[in-house]
Parts: sequence; structure tokens; C-alpha cells
Amino acid sequence: MYICLCKGLTESDIQRAVQSDQTPEALTTALGLDDDDCCGRCAGNIDQLAACAATGCLQAAG
Ligand code: FES
Repeated sequence: MYICLCKGLTESDIQRAVQSDQTPEALTTALGLDDDDCCGRCAGNIDQLAACAATGCLQAAG
């Protein structure tokens, strides 16, 4: 499922980025979300996915 339409990022893209143990700021940069052409609407969903991935709940959900 697409999470960020501006960058074409899927849930899997976010999970891979989070697994590399980055700070929220580094994650934003790594995903290219600090570019001027990003609307920022996905930020809340990405934060939730990152928090969930950090606690392992994504693996538990399957
Ligand atoms: S939907 Fe992600 S920056 Fe626009």
C-alpha cells in the first residue's frame, strides 16, 4: 500500500528504512521527505509506522 504519493513510498519502503535504526530526522532525509516538492500529508502515517516498526508490532501483525 502506498503511504506517500509524492515520493511513491510504500509501507514496505518505510519498514525497510525504519529497520536501519534511524532517528526521525534521518528517516525523513533518507526517504527524501525534506524535499520542496513534498506536501507533508503522509508525515503522521509515517511516524505511526515508524513507531510501530520500532516496537515490532508490524512483524507480529504478519
Ligand atoms: S504524500 Fe508524502 S510528502 Fe506528500
